Formats: sequence, C-alpha cells, structure tokens
Amino acid sequence: MKLTTEEQAMLAGEQGPAVEKAIEIVVALGEIYGADRLVPVESVQVAGVSYKNLGPAGLGFLQDWAGQGAQVRVPTFLNPAGMDLLRWKELGFAEEFARPQLKVVDILGAMGIDTTCTCTPYHIGQVPSLGAHLAWAESSAVSFANSALGARTNREGGPSALAAAICGRTARYGLHCDENRLGTTRVIVNCPVKEPSDWGALGFLVGQQVRDGVPYFRGLETGEDSISSTPGSPAWDSLKALGAAMAASGAVALYHIEGVTPEAALEPMLRPDHSTVKVDSLEPGYLALSGGRTDIDLVWLGCPHASLPEVARLAAVAKGKRFLTDVWITTSRHVRQQAEEAGYVATIEAAGGQVVADTCVVVAPLNGRYRTIATLSAKGASYLPSYLGAEVRYGTWDQLQAAMLTGRWGE
Ligand code: F3S
Repeated sequence: MKLTTEEQAMLAGEQGPAVEKAIEIVVALGEIYGADRLVPVESVQVAGVSYKNLGPAGLGFLQDWAGQGAQVRVPTFLNPAGMDLLRWKELGFAEEFARPQLKVVDILGAMGIDTTCTCTPYHIGQVPSLGAHLAWAESSAVSFANSALGARTNREGGPSALAAAICGRTARYGLHCDENRLGTTRVIVNCPVKEPSDWGALGFLVGQQVRDGVPYFRGLETGEDSISSTPGSPAWDSLKALGAAMAASGAVALYHIEGVTPEAALEPMLRPDHSTVKVDSLEPGYLALSGGRTDIDLVWLGCPHASLPEVARLAAVAKGKRFLTDVWITTSRHVRQQAEEAGYVATIEAAGGQVVADTCVVVAPLNGRYRTIATLSAKGASYLPSYLGAEVRYGTWDQLQAAMLTGRWGE
C-alpha cells in the first residue's frame, strides 16, 4: 500500500501513540482488503456506543485509547447509546447501567466527538457531498449515505471508525472504489410501494436475495408524491426504510434506484454480468416479519431514528387521545428538541407516549420489559426477537395506530 510522507510519520509514532494505533488499524484493514492507498475522510460515525454491547471490556478499550491522548481530527458523531442520556431515570433505566453508559459518552466527548447519538445523522445536518469519502458505521446510515447521497463508505466497525476519526483517513477498498459501486442485481418491482412499511417489506425481500450485492431498482415510481432523493424531502424516510431493511435481512450497503438516487439518476449503474430478480408482491415480506400475538405491549416508531415529519405524524394521532399501549418514538436529541418546540412532544406525552432521544429499543437494555412489540420498521422487526426476546407485529401505519388506541392488533 502506498502511504504519503505524513501517513508514514503517523505510523512511525511521530504524532503520538494514539495516532500510531489508529493508523495501524486502518492500514491493517487496507492490507486485508487489498487497498492501494488511504483516503482522507470527510466525517465519521462511530458505532458500538451502547454499554449493552460494549460492556466493561469495551469501556476499558476506550479508556486506554483516550489515556494515550486520542483526539479526532474530522467531524465525528455517534450511533445511538443504550439510553436517553438526559431522561434515563424517568424512562426506567437502572443506575448501574446509566453510570458506565455516561462514562462511555464522556470519554468519546473528551476525544472531540460530537456526542449526538443517532443513526440518522443526515436528518440533523450531517449531509455528506456526492463522492465524499466517509467512515460511517451503522448499517442503515451507511446505506443512506452511499445510496441516497452518493457518498462513499464501507460499513465500519466501532474500532475502525474511531481509528479513521483519529487519523483522518480510511483505506481505499470496497465501496470507495468506482468498480464496486455498480449494480449486481437488477430488481424489477411489479407491485405498488406506498406505505412506510411497504418500503421495509420490499427491502426485507430484496436483502434476503441479494445478500451483500448492490441492488439496482427499476419500476419504482418517481415524482413529486412518490420518491426522490431531494435533500430533506419526505421521500428520505422511504429511502431510509428501504436501505435499513436490506442491511438487516442481507448485508446491502449500497443500492440504486434508476432515475432517483444520485449515481443512477443519469446513467445505468449495472454490471454487465448482473442477475435479475422480480418482486411481484410484498405479502411474503409482511408475513415473514410478523408473529401471531394480538395483545400489544409497545408500539415502537423511529427505527431508523425518526425525522421531524414522522414525529409530527404521531403527534397528529395522539391529539386528544389516550394510548392503551406504551408508545415510543426514538429519535436524535436535535429532532426531539425541534419536536418539543413545535408542541409535538407535549401532545404525545399527554396521550401517554414517549419521544425518546439518543437510543433505540434494540440497543437499550429492555430485555424482558415487553412481550409483544408492534413496529413498521423491517429492521426493528428483524432484530427484536433475538435482541430482546420479544415477539413482533409488523404492519402498516393504520394497523399501528389502531394498536396504540386499542392495545390490540387488528388484521
Ligand atoms: Fe437505528 Fe436502532 Fe433501528 S440504531 S436503525 S433505531 S435498530
């Protein structure tokens, strides 16, 4: 691998042990994956923030690195932590969990990281430019950055993302290279895709078939009321649901939609030897994601973290009502703040719901708290049984709304 003079100096320890360790990790990964050189990164998203996943060993690892003087040198932010960092007590998180969790966030903050904990940084102004090299870690955020925004990132692990932030570089392999960004599978969609849960069901089905390939969608409607990748458009929520589902049921980190996503807007991005799959119905996706229980304990929205319009939609349902299940919508602190200013938080809380910041139901230590959880996130539905041991009902917005107001799942 070719390294610049500065990179060689980092590797020789001339910028201190923390930078030396960081560039060693980045170079080692580059060698494993056949990178020709390193590239500077525009921003970094660090995952592995929840103490539920990190445990004492992960906390010790961060403490050691911080003790060596680790500091990030590019804008860096965090994936969700294991609890709402401000309202953890009110939401029933134990002090024994909260103490080490707050310590993790403090250590990362002392490294110069923006301690905003979210899997949708693009909803709060972190919108990378077309072609920018990144080192992002959370699978749905990676998919969105690559696909909806045309930036370039592999799916980094917790330590490799932090290493990239500390040395400001990542190894140029995988999705940083043009040749790996071509579609491997043409996906022809022959059924309507409208509801938020439709995008998840479609993504779930396609991810299962494509695995770690690059789907290239044809037949998805474009236009004002449908899907576009215009920054901040409501269609962003559809793209995020689609990408999150494909990253959960497969390992898709990049997809294209012909005429919509930036790299496929102008020219076909397909490999000559691509395969083809057809989706004629979303029904198998809905069936695979949903269990059979009808009494619902929790309705969970905001996976990936909710945009302000998604919080507004819940507030409209909550107005003047009383929820008969627990209702959580998870989001970033920034969006929660905006929702508070708009009066949505007060409306949702008056109905008995919660707008929860910094965390999500999957990465929080909620095992055993809920038996049946209803969601319209295919990613959430895929993870909840194994992460929480909960049964899932997956369905449309109308079904979720009915569940909140009756406590039961209607067909
Ligand atoms: Fe985000 Fe948690 Fe879902 S990290 S994508 S809300 S599982």
